[in-house]
Amino acid sequence: EKDTAAIIDVHEHQEGPLLPILHDVQAKFGYVPEDALLQIADRLNLSRAEVHGTMSFYHDFRTEPAGRHVLKVCRAEACQSLGGEKLAEDIQRDLGIKWHETTPDGKVTLEPVYCLGLCSCAPAAMMDGNLHGRLDEAAVLKLVEEVK
Ligand code: FES
Repeated sequence: EKDTAAIIDVHEHQEGPLLPILHDVQAKFGYVPEDALLQIADRLNLSRAEVHGTMSFYHDFRTEPAGRHVLKVCRAEACQSLGGEKLAEDIQRDLGIKWHETTPDGKVTLEPVYCLGLCSCAPAAMMDGNLHGRLDEAAVLKLVEEVK
């Protein structure tokens, strides 16, 4: 696919080309499609598993298009210690999806994030780039309702 090929061309000869390539591919398509992943692996002489492993290690990459709204819930320490873990479980149950998944109506994608810089107002989350603190289950559901 030529968009991916052009992105690879740009970064191929720099040191550590994989991350910049993945970033550009995701910026272009909104996610990293499987065929792009295979193309990248092939050109960089990596296995599919290696590229996929890097994608999962950095939590920013998606293997599927995101829903129309993206809810990022903080899973770092300050938020965890103030009920973030239970909140994360409740949200996943309420939305019926797990991390990195999108609700069946295509509206909300749920992603973990590791500190939003809002630790003093933990637990925190971000909906479509807007920060929200001191959240509980009801407050998160309200955020979801508002964008639906
Ligand atoms: Fe959640 Fe910093 S730990 S915002």
